[in-house]
Amino acid sequence: MSRVTVSAPANIALLKYWGSACLDEGIPLNRSLSMTLETCRSRTTSEHLEEGGEDEVWIAASDGSLSPPPAGFRRRAERHLDALRRITGLTGAFRITTSNSFPADAGLASSASGFAALAIAVTRSAGLDPGPEELSVLARASGSGSAARSTFGGYVLWPGSDDPESPARQLAPASHWPLVDLVAVVAEEAKSVSSREGHERAVTSPHFGTRQDLLPPRLDAMREAIVARDLDELGPLVEEEAIELHLVAMSSRPPVFYWRPETLTVLETVRELRAAGLPAYATIDAGPNVHVLCEPTHEDSIAAALGAAPGVVEVIHDRTGEGPRLEEEHLR
Ligand code: PMV
Repeated sequence: MSRVTVSAPANIALLKYWGSACLDEGIPLNRSLSMTLETCRSRTTSEHLEEGGEDEVWIAASDGSLSPPPAGFRRRAERHLDALRRITGLTGAFRITTSNSFPADAGLASSASGFAALAIAVTRSAGLDPGPEELSVLARASGSGSAARSTFGGYVLWPGSDDPESPARQLAPASHWPLVDLVAVVAEEAKSVSSREGHERAVTSPHFGTRQDLLPPRLDAMREAIVARDLDELGPLVEEEAIELHLVAMSSRPPVFYWRPETLTVLETVRELRAAGLPAYATIDAGPNVHVLCEPTHEDSIAAALGAAPGVVEVIHDRTGEGPRLEEEHLR
């Protein structure tokens, strides 16, 4: 019986996956591009148990105490364990213990980091050593497509080729362009509509088709801006992309509203920062919290302005990260 602990990062989508060809296997209807984060992480310890045992799933609190997970979380973890066994041919049960460094299910990509960490910890604890591309496919078999991007560091494209079933691949390492992501948290509780539900409803929006047409040239322009390390080029594209995703969500049938009044307050603060000469650009995943991208030189002044915006309960300082890593210290 071997025990392995993995720390895997969340990622922030610059061009977002919204709408799925197969939710269970995490096959997207459009390509996406993300920046891997460093601070927002999930840690997962996996123990491969004897044959015949049952899977166990535990949540570890910051004081080290263990508790059983909510039923929905447990079901998703068990489904992912079954998918991992089916794809890899592994047998036997696993004891999984996991913790997050940030609020879960609030549009901070906790499923991406959580399922990437699970896929890596489980395969390693069972003696396999898959590379990041294989792990990308295993991570997205959780049904969280964005997990496919969290097995790499830096800037990541998924699918990495024209084949929608292909794994993600790294476009550039974190060292190419270290950016700061300041997460203005306006709500820490779990969102009321899951991203799975959002992907299902996306295609019912009358604007979904228009979005699909706009994405390929936007992706090309984003890639060029990343190669050139040009935030004034990348930032407006990232912002229009986020607004458009939420336009599709809000016009789905039935509609999906992730924004809160405080979300708009933060967007206004970001526009004011730019008007004052501070380059800051916002993006929002499936939740009310706003990720604000900037260069490290402007981190402190932008964080101070975000922290002072009405309704912001916390500003998480994150940055471009190197990807998953093994850890010596286990959660249990
Ligand atoms: O990976 P999922 O199913 O949790 O969906 C992710 C959806 C977005 O975060 C809004 C976009 C993305 O590409 O991460």
